[in-house]
Amino acid sequence: MICLFVNTATTESFSDKKIKVCVLKGSPKKNGYTEHMLNTFLENFPCASTDIFDAYAVKAKPCTDCKFCCQTFGCSSNDLDDFFKSYESCDIFVAAFPIYFLSIPAPMKSVLDRFQKYFSARFSLNIKRPVEKERIGVLISSCGSNDETGFSIALKQWKMAFSVSGIKLVENIFLSDTDSDEVSEEKYLQQIDRSIREINNFLKGRSSYVNGTCNT
Ligand SMILES: Cc1cc2nc3c(=O)[nH]c(=O)nc-3n(C[C@H](O)[C@H](O)[C@H](O)COP(=O)(O)O)c2cc1C
Repeated sequence: MICLFVNTATTESFSDKKIKVCVLKGSPKKNGYTEHMLNTFLENFPCASTDIFDAYAVKAKPCTDCKFCCQTFGCSSNDLDDFFKSYESCDIFVAAFPIYFLSIPAPMKSVLDRFQKYFSARFSLNIKRPVEKERIGVLISSCGSNDETGFSIALKQWKMAFSVSGIKLVENIFLSDTDSDEVSEEKYLQQIDRSIREINNFLKGRSSYVNGTCNT
């Protein structure tokens, strides 16, 4: 683990500076590769306020193209209100999922389709920035084969959602070939290091972590 969020210069107003992380998990497995990569990534934010949403538990209602969001910014279903509140107010958004049939798993896709409200806000309601706050996003994913097409597809899917909801992507953390006997942890640890460096630049040294303890 590298912990770059060390700020020894000042201890003022750390409660204001607490980093907020919103995580959407998309694997049904508790001890799978995706979960392991996610936990390793999150170890870099020991003092953050972290909301974790499991797409398999959330059971998002699928978008029905009811056009509610073309009239009013929002959605006719309120089952994802807690998720979207966290998504809009976080500093870092993380989507962690395995590749299923070259795409994201179905429960996560149900959540993703509900991002349609941001498209409607932007293009039907002419709201320039449906989400004001600038945030940063990370994709964490694994796939069984060494064909990385699924990562490209999932990346395109998430980029569409991020483009209308104010998220800037940092380096992704992708691990392929998990079906093989020898999985190289080294590969994703390096990707995590690079992502953390980019995130730290984005956060400009904001921290609630000083001399090994959390200041809240
Ligand atoms: C329904 C299903 C579909 C899958 N489709 C693909 C695929 O299209 N490409 C691929 O490389 N691996 C595929 N896999 C393998 C998973 O992506 C791989 O095992 C992944 O590492 C699982 O992550 P997890 O252990 O975190 O759940 C599939 C697995 C399942 C169960």
